[in-house]
Amino acid sequence: TLPRVYVTRQIPPEGLRILRESGQVQFELWDSDDVPVPREELLKKVKGVDGLLCVLTEKIDTELLETAGPNLKVLSTMSVGFDHLSLEELKTRGIRVGYTPDVLTDSVAELTVALLLTTSRRLIEATHEAKTGGWGTWRTLWLCGHELANSTVGILGLGRIGVAIAERLAPFKVKKFIYTDVVPRPELASLINAEYVSFEELAEQSDFLSVCCALTPETKEICNKNLFSKMKNTAIFINTSRGGVVNQEDLYEALSTGQIAGAGLDVTVPEPLPTTHPLFTLKNCVILPHIASASYSTRNAMSSLAANNLLRGLRGEPMIKELKL
Ligand code: GLV
Ligand code: GLV
Repeated sequence: TLPRVYVTRQIPPEGLRILRESGQVQFELWDSDDVPVPREELLKKVKGVDGLLCVLTEKIDTELLETAGPNLKVLSTMSVGFDHLSLEELKTRGIRVGYTPDVLTDSVAELTVALLLTTSRRLIEATHEAKTGGWGTWRTLWLCGHELANSTVGILGLGRIGVAIAERLAPFKVKKFIYTDVVPRPELASLINAEYVSFEELAEQSDFLSVCCALTPETKEICNKNLFSKMKNTAIFINTSRGGVVNQEDLYEALSTGQIAGAGLDVTVPEPLPTTHPLFTLKNCVILPHIASASYSTRNAMSSLAANNLLRGLRGEPMIKELKL
């Protein structure tokens, strides 16, 4: 009999087609994209499965793995992030893990540039003013922002995505790229001519600071008042990685007191961020609902890759993109 698989979301059609046409699995699907599978339902459905294809809203923890039982050998997440997975627990149980890096790099980098410009040139405020009568006359300092030309751009956590962002920003005449990470990344840094600096130097020198690291126990809330207090009051903070790397109370404080000039966030804690959250009251904070990889082509590519990782894993072959546990 064929391996049993549970798919926790109605993922884009490419991936589902691959699973269906493979003839290699019998799969059940949470047949909605608008509502995540309730935890109770998920725990019921994973019992005895051989494989699991999930998205980032599902917590893959000890309870879930325990409930799934010993048949579960392959987990495939349709995401580049893996902070929703208990990696230690997966490793202990010998469960292999596939994920979807690379295919989303262009889309995430594009969105990051869009969010950066939207924040620094105050586009949301500006359209609001134009629409609601605030446009009294052309004014010399009205809606002025900060420009990329001649600026220093800092990258916190230099990986594929940070490089792709810098490549896109370079033509805006950025003066200098700097980055920090747990160790220098000379091969990646040489692609964008970026200089390795300390965390403090990154905070002090960046006109634009873009967070591009994974959320791990080491990076949890590293963007806190210690960072914001060292930043220029003209600086723009951008986060398209995970909300958990930021202490949001400290960010609110920094934005509302003018310690930094603005923030653009694609990710928050929690998601969705409640509409009553204080950050939504700030004109200098642009908040997007976690859409950095949301282009049709990228989401289909992520869906295909997640499906192919799963099938390869179940056949005992190397996955196309497999996390080293
Ligand atoms: C999106 O946030 C992802 O991890 O793919
Ligand atoms: C701007 O529109 C200018 O003419 O300076």
